[in-house]
Amino acid sequence: MEAVVFIGVQGSGKSSFFKERFFTTHLRISLDLLKTRNREKRLLDVCLGTDQRFVIDNTNATRAERVNYIGAAKAARFQVVGYYFQSKIEDCLRRNGNRTQAERVPDVAIYSTAKKLELPTREEGFDKLFYVRIENGQFFVEDWCDEV
Ligand SMILES: Nc1ncnc2c1ncn2[C@@H]1O[C@H](COP(=O)(O)OP(=O)(O)O)[C@@H](O)[C@H]1O
Ligand SMILES: [Mg+2]
Repeated sequence: MEAVVFIGVQGSGKSSFFKERFFTTHLRISLDLLKTRNREKRLLDVCLGTDQRFVIDNTNATRAERVNYIGAAKAARFQVVGYYFQSKIEDCLRRNGNRTQAERVPDVAIYSTAKKLELPTREEGFDKLFYVRIENGQFFVEDWCDEV
């Protein structure tokens, strides 16, 4: 079974990528949506306990944030797949600026996430790790290279 962890600043395209690639197969676990860690944990436990594929659609910017998901998924014998979204700050700010008022986050949130962002490594426990970028409105997915 597959556990997917997204990594990327706000506005990097995570939720849109989910809609495009995972909507029909994976449950979306998003703290923005669920609001509380309690709900998140309960939903995650259900997925892990019932062999339901899922995507963690948060910024997951630090190793410390990712380690819990990765550990829990591995303990339940899920394959852990990471997708890092190219997080050029000016692109994220521009995309965020084009959102509706209700969907937009304050620019300071983007700066703050960008500042604490730790690039993922396979050693964290990812069985597969990918690099996603948007070009001309399309998503491109490549295998992760440590140099990026
Ligand atoms: N492939 C794409 N091409 C162009 N714009 C995109 C693409 N994917 C998403 N966007 C725009 O970027 C903004 C942020 O995307 P979103 O998926 O909400 O990012 P995140 O979930 O990482 O915050 C959205 O307003 C969306 O319209
Ligand atoms: Mg999102």
